Formats: sequence, structure tokens, C-alpha cells
Amino acid sequence: MMLPKQLQDMINKQINMEFFSAYLYLGLAAKCEQLHYRGAAQWLRAQAAEEKEHAMRFFEFLVDYDVPVTLMPIEAPNVDPKSLLEVFEQSLAHEQKVSKSIEEIFAAVMEQKAYSAFQLLSWFLTEQIEEEKTVRNIVRTLQVIKDDVPSLIEFDRQLGSRTSENS
Ligand code: FEO
Repeated sequence: MMLPKQLQDMINKQINMEFFSAYLYLGLAAKCEQLHYRGAAQWLRAQAAEEKEHAMRFFEFLVDYDVPVTLMPIEAPNVDPKSLLEVFEQSLAHEQKVSKSIEEIFAAVMEQKAYSAFQLLSWFLTEQIEEEKTVRNIVRTLQVIKDDVPSLIEFDRQLGSRTSENS
């Protein structure tokens, strides 16, 4: 089986985007540590680990296909959130970008009749619904909490219960 060149390129770019996602979440984790939101920092570390797994799913797919993997430089994330709400608003905006990219790859799979990539991309489409939903719910909770310090402390504690295993 052959994977069309356009799809090879798109998946190579997506590997980069997933590693960038890991970098972005790590950058946000570091900021949360500075802002003393230790729970959110833990949540973001777990998210970064999940993003590396996403990158590796695409990586292994190309390897299985005997397609050259082209690793590109990972851009430095631009992170300067002033609040926990900003951290997760930036996360949500990023996930929406990722979803769009996955949809574009899926559209190319269909256009080029590259059906052997269908299952992989279907998995990612479903995963993106979950990714957006999780972050959107966090944003909405923070919008309700606003600047109520005891609620922020409690919510940060809850975020900290996330591990790579229960994410
Ligand atoms: Fe791998 Fe959060 O997208």
C-alpha cells in the first residue's frame, strides 16, 4: 500500500504539532508553578505526556507504512498567562487549532481514498471532541469561580488529582 505524498507531509507536520502541543502544555505548567497553582501544573504535565503519545501514534503509523519520518524544529511556545483562566483559554484555543488540522488531514484521507489511514484519523477526531470538551469545562468552571480564592484553591487541588494514567 502507498500513502499519498500529500498525506505523508500532512502527518509529518502533525507529528510536529503534537510535540509543539506537549511543549505548550509544559510551558503553561511552568507558569502555573510560578503562579503557585501546583494542581494545574500537574494537570498540564499529564496533558503534555498525552500529547507526546499523540505524536508517537502518528510517528508509528508512518514507520509501519515505511514512510520517512521528518522531524522538524519545535517552535518555542508563547506563554504569559496572568491567571488560571487565561491558561485554560489558551489551551482551548490551541485544541481548536489542533482539531482543525486533524479535520484537514481527515478530509485529505477521504479525497485521496487513503482508507488505510481512516481508522487512525477517526480515532483522532473522536479524541479531539474529548480534548476540547475537557478544557472547555475547565474554562467554564473558572469563569464561574472568577476571583473567589477559596474556590480557586479547591479547584486547583482537584486539577492536581489528574495523572497520566487517569487522564
Ligand atoms: Fe493532541 Fe491535544 O491534541
